[in-house]
Amino acid sequence: MRNEQPSKVIFDTDPGIDDAMAILFAHLSPQIDLVGITSVFGNASIEKTTNNACYLRDRFDLNCGVYRGAAQPLYLPLGAAPTFVHGHDGLGDTGQDIPEVSRQPDAIQFIIETIRTNPGEITIVAVGRMTNLATALTIAPDIAALTKRVVIMGGVTGLAGIGGNVTPVAEANIYGDPHAADIIMRAAWDLTMVGLDVTMKTLISPERMQVLAEKAGEIGQFIYEVSRYYQSFYQGRTGSESFPVHDALALVYLVNPALFQTHRGAIRVLTEGDGLGQTVFASADRTYPEAAWTEERPHQSVCLGVDSESAMDLYQDTMLRSES
Ligand code: RIB
Ligand code: CA
Repeated sequence: MRNEQPSKVIFDTDPGIDDAMAILFAHLSPQIDLVGITSVFGNASIEKTTNNACYLRDRFDLNCGVYRGAAQPLYLPLGAAPTFVHGHDGLGDTGQDIPEVSRQPDAIQFIIETIRTNPGEITIVAVGRMTNLATALTIAPDIAALTKRVVIMGGVTGLAGIGGNVTPVAEANIYGDPHAADIIMRAAWDLTMVGLDVTMKTLISPERMQVLAEKAGEIGQFIYEVSRYYQSFYQGRTGSESFPVHDALALVYLVNPALFQTHRGAIRVLTEGDGLGQTVFASADRTYPEAAWTEERPHQSVCLGVDSESAMDLYQDTMLRSES
């Protein structure tokens, strides 16, 4: 069943083409009250992801602030931006006139203050590197108990037959700052991981993209245009014209969790070696001979199954609201 009350959401993001598709979904969803967008490095530099977030806010009249977050991982060196997925500007190199912003308020302070002043009310949806959340938690550990819930797009368990997209075992948002990801996985808050296990099974078809281009107004035309680069990257990889919407699926989960099958257990992130960035899921419904794998960490939720067509129906129907 869908949540009836709109969720107050801080959207932590690295726009990013699929991030842009998700931000505009959040804007149009009656079940989401977007209270702020916090930027993080990832799909492009922090300057570009912040510029892109401000551009989306201003062009589409999003009623929320944009706050600038981390420029690099907690400990590891900054890797190269994936321009082959999102283009050099992070939005598919379609020649959008994206102004450079000079100063934006600080994301970490915004996250901490917003959660403290709205205890039990704020949902964080994080769809980039987890650096902002981990930094906020480290500075202000009290926010874990004050946050309503956390939904992330990131990670992959391998239990649903899907592997990593950066290494055989690691997903990009986790690989990009594994230390930060491990901090947020072991916090005592209600976290759900919407990873590649489900996002690689939930593809938007060319027919649906055409409907959005033709019937979802300026927003539909925009996401059609910017997603051509991203679609072409995925088609080169998979041979399919359909492509994963990754980040929007975390919001679809928030709006209608009944579309997903979740499992409980502890999630650890490997922070060294060949498995760097791997999310290891220790299911709560079994015990392990090594006690550290059974007791030590809080249990979180992991999505391992999804009704993909219904999830894409929800995405499409929400985007079509832009015409109403
Ligand atoms: O692995 C997919 C994720 O990495 C998405 O959040 C995408 O935007 C990139 O950040
Ligand atoms: Ca992202």
